[in-house]
Amino acid sequence: MIWTSAEEMRIFIAPLEGITFCEYRRLHNRMFPGADAYFTPFIAPDTKGNFREKYLRELLPDNNEGVKLIPQLLVNAPEPFLLTAEKLRDLGYNEVDLNIGCPSGTVFAKHKGAGMLTDLKELNSFLGRIFSKTDIAISIKTRMGVSDTAEFAKIAGIYAKYPLKELIIHARSRDGFYDSAPDLDGFAAAFGRFPFPVCYNGNIFSKKDLDILRERVPGIENVMVGRGVIADPALIRTLRGGENLRAEELRQFHDALLDALLGKGLAPEHALSHMKELWYYMIHKFTDAGVLYKRLNKTTRLNLYRSAVSELFSSGKFDPDRCFSGGKYQG
Ligand SMILES: Cc1cc2nc3c(=O)[nH]c(=O)nc-3n(C[C@H](O)[C@H](O)[C@H](O)COP(=O)(O)O)c2cc1C
Repeated sequence: MIWTSAEEMRIFIAPLEGITFCEYRRLHNRMFPGADAYFTPFIAPDTKGNFREKYLRELLPDNNEGVKLIPQLLVNAPEPFLLTAEKLRDLGYNEVDLNIGCPSGTVFAKHKGAGMLTDLKELNSFLGRIFSKTDIAISIKTRMGVSDTAEFAKIAGIYAKYPLKELIIHARSRDGFYDSAPDLDGFAAAFGRFPFPVCYNGNIFSKKDLDILRERVPGIENVMVGRGVIADPALIRTLRGGENLRAEELRQFHDALLDALLGKGLAPEHALSHMKELWYYMIHKFTDAGVLYKRLNKTTRLNLYRSAVSELFSSGKFDPDRCFSGGKYQG
């Protein structure tokens, strides 16, 4: 077995609806370069392959300067998939990712996202149709099952029949949402089964997590990180063996992102609600910051928010070794 060193691994930034919007991606890529690609949060076209203005904004090359971007689609019928793929090609994209993982109740009920795993015959015919009708590169981001990751043995047999660009496996079942333990053994067992690249996703929050994965799955070369990189924007650097995040870097990143959101004309309360989504993760870099976190989270006024953030950075205990825990901040 030839090992890929951590510096040489391909590391992707996961799609996170409401978080990894274009301003975030641009700034992150500029201040913390090193990701091999960013995936857009899902784009949900209508039955004619049209999508809303807010999605188009996310896709325009001018809004993604310098970022290697892969658009993700949440769609379960061949026609809208194919029509949208053509529109994406016109915008300059030659790769599309298909979301077969979203666990949300409304999405699932419409048999989209992880809901596509409820009927494997239907999934097979959908994939058969899209792969025969377009030559755009298609990757899939999937869960390992609906209620149990053991379902993946069957699901894998379907994916293996098609020329995927890449299969990104979020190593949980749909019912495991985001808090069950990823099934590393199940992932390791499936890993060698495919004739195309396979990427691991789920709870890589630190270099230690990556080392454990590499120990358990020899030969793994591709990983996708989500919440961990939101908590610690320098995560890719540390995964590749570089320095830990410094408090000043987090502060600069935070301030620049807030400025970018205000600069594009967002009302302060909307800009703050985006920033608070990020704080759900970033606060994990601080020890015993429950009170300061509460204060920052409560305010809807820009000046009060700014002073709460300043206080967090001046009197909070930033700990470069702390990482996201997978759940709510416990101090
Ligand atoms: C707030 C939030 C939004 C998400 N949005 C998307 C999405 O739009 N498309 C998608 O495929 N996955 C989405 N995910 C799942 C992540 O991409 C990723 O698969 C998951 O968080 C597990 O990776 P992690 O443990 O590294 O965070 C989302 C997850 C969260 C927490």
